[in-house]
Amino acid sequence: MQPWCVGISTLLLSALLPWPGAGQFRVIGPGPPIIASVGKEAVLPCHLSPMTDAEDMQVTWYQIHPSALVHHYEAYQDQLDQQSPKFQERTEFIKENITTGQVALRIFPILPADNGQYRCYFASSTFENEAQFTVLVTASGRAPQIHIESGGTGEMKLTCTSPDWYPEPEVQWRDLQGRRLTPASETKTAAENGLFHVETSVTVDTRSRDVSCVIRNPVLTEEKEAHVSVADTVFPRIWPWIVEFVVSLCLVAVGTAFGVLFVQTRRKLDTLPRDYDLAQKENVELNEDIRHLVKENGLKNLRSYAEDITLDERTAHPHLEIRENRKYVRATAEKRDVPDNPERFDTHMAVLGMNRFSAGDHYWEVDVGWKDRWEIGLCVHSVTRKGEISVCPENGFWALSLENNEYKALSTPTSILSIPDPLMAVGIFLQYEKGLISFYNVPDCSFLYTFKTTFNKPLKPYFYPGPVSTENMGALIIPKCQ
Ligand SMILES: *[C@@H]1O[C@H](CO)[C@@H](O)[C@H](O)[C@H]1NC(C)=O
Repeated sequence: MQPWCVGISTLLLSALLPWPGAGQFRVIGPGPPIIASVGKEAVLPCHLSPMTDAEDMQVTWYQIHPSALVHHYEAYQDQLDQQSPKFQERTEFIKENITTGQVALRIFPILPADNGQYRCYFASSTFENEAQFTVLVTASGRAPQIHIESGGTGEMKLTCTSPDWYPEPEVQWRDLQGRRLTPASETKTAAENGLFHVETSVTVDTRSRDVSCVIRNPVLTEEKEAHVSVADTVFPRIWPWIVEFVVSLCLVAVGTAFGVLFVQTRRKLDTLPRDYDLAQKENVELNEDIRHLVKENGLKNLRSYAEDITLDERTAHPHLEIRENRKYVRATAEKRDVPDNPERFDTHMAVLGMNRFSAGDHYWEVDVGWKDRWEIGLCVHSVTRKGEISVCPENGFWALSLENNEYKALSTPTSILSIPDPLMAVGIFLQYEKGLISFYNVPDCSFLYTFKTTFNKPLKPYFYPGPVSTENMGALIIPKCQ
């Protein structure tokens, strides 16, 4: 009879018969699942409680599905004649502390097929008992590679491949805003060694800027990402071109006096004066000069005040990820290991710009994409960084926000802005001496809101990309605006 059959039948007997000593000792397994990496070692510990000498007992490890004898010890030595072939030469019984009932099994190297449920079983002439536990085998595959093939007009096909994953990984295509793109194809095939090979492709149009292929190990919640800047690779930068196009539309709109383009631009002119509605809001004090600046010349005049804004990593909350030459911030579930220096936000998930303004006029833009939560604007350089923060002028913040599908100026009280279409990119214009901070919708050059106050302390750009959620995946990005 095979040893594990003996084990099961005596276990049944012990339930029926009051064996001397039965039930006095318990076998304690490792508890939580053991996470084992392919190619590395795993140690499966088990012990008796209360402590007792197990040197003259049988100690056996089984894999439950598929059922296999992993290792058997009896009569003071390893008994490997019944050992399952798949575990041969890979197990080592650690019995240094067997006299106190503590043993362990070392398996090396771990293979994908080692994944599953196990039990360790102890038996003496007077008792038997066992513990069950789980081994989760994982392998984080190799960094994905993206290959670009041109597709039809205005389209291209990207293929992403990555081998050596276990278990079957999750695969996603995302754009720079964090939106998921629907793959054209996706296959995950198990290779002979049991590891998964991923191949996925996506078709993107030429308006895509940056595309990522993300492969995720579901056990370790670890991701590997390949990133391709489509515009950099194949086409000229698309986004600045769109902005230029929009700006020139605004310019063209003003150029109707020249007559030639009158018909085409008429519609654009009609949609421009969106700011008239907002001007009626009592708490908005408009600056006539600026309204004229924008209306007469689109954003071109404002852009002559353009500042090169970069994010200050020393101020970034530990859950914020800063990338792309410090022009990109998004919240992540992962907490970065960073010091809690005085400059850093520790509760409010914000980051400030490196730039510090205590005079003059300054302009920059923030690409907010499809995010559903954000705050952007300016704050006094000395704002509180620790604990919960209420973002309002009294606390030194002047910001615009999107929350619960509402655009708001975080004034006191807050002003709800009526904006018909989602904002994609916002221009921020600071006039320090005049005490004005104005916000513009970049694509159609329309005015959004102005704060009027008196500044007497240096100011810094303020960014809050909102919490991590599937709806709020994207980043706040500071595009180049010249
Ligand atoms: C054996 O027990 C000693 C003392 O508790 C401990 O330091 C040692 O790490 C144990 N050895 C193994 C292999 O668990």
